[in-house]
Amino acid sequence: MRVRGHPVLGEPPRGREVTIYLDGRPLSAREGEPVAAALFASGIRIAHYTGSGEPRGPFCMIGRCTECRMLLEGRGMVLTCLTPVEEGMRLRTPGGGKA
Ligand code: FES
Repeated sequence: MRVRGHPVLGEPPRGREVTIYLDGRPLSAREGEPVAAALFASGIRIAHYTGSGEPRGPFCMIGRCTECRMLLEGRGMVLTCLTPVEEGMRLRTPGGGKA
């Protein structure tokens, strides 16, 4: 699900379609959009699991809550709401491998 025809913001910029990987699973995304938005558009709401196994997902979408953190291969832990999609990026769900 993506917002289209927003009454104030209009149409979002549309990057080219690329493939990213979450726990080895290929997903379609748009280059340049926030990783969290791409995952949300693919129906993925869980970014990581707490030490006690509780699922957590994006909340603020402005880089403040850290609930969207995930492991990005080659970069370590990132905030997915602030990380733009790049072709072929490989993400992992910390604390579970489930999404
Ligand atoms: S959703 Fe809050 S920091 Fe990313």
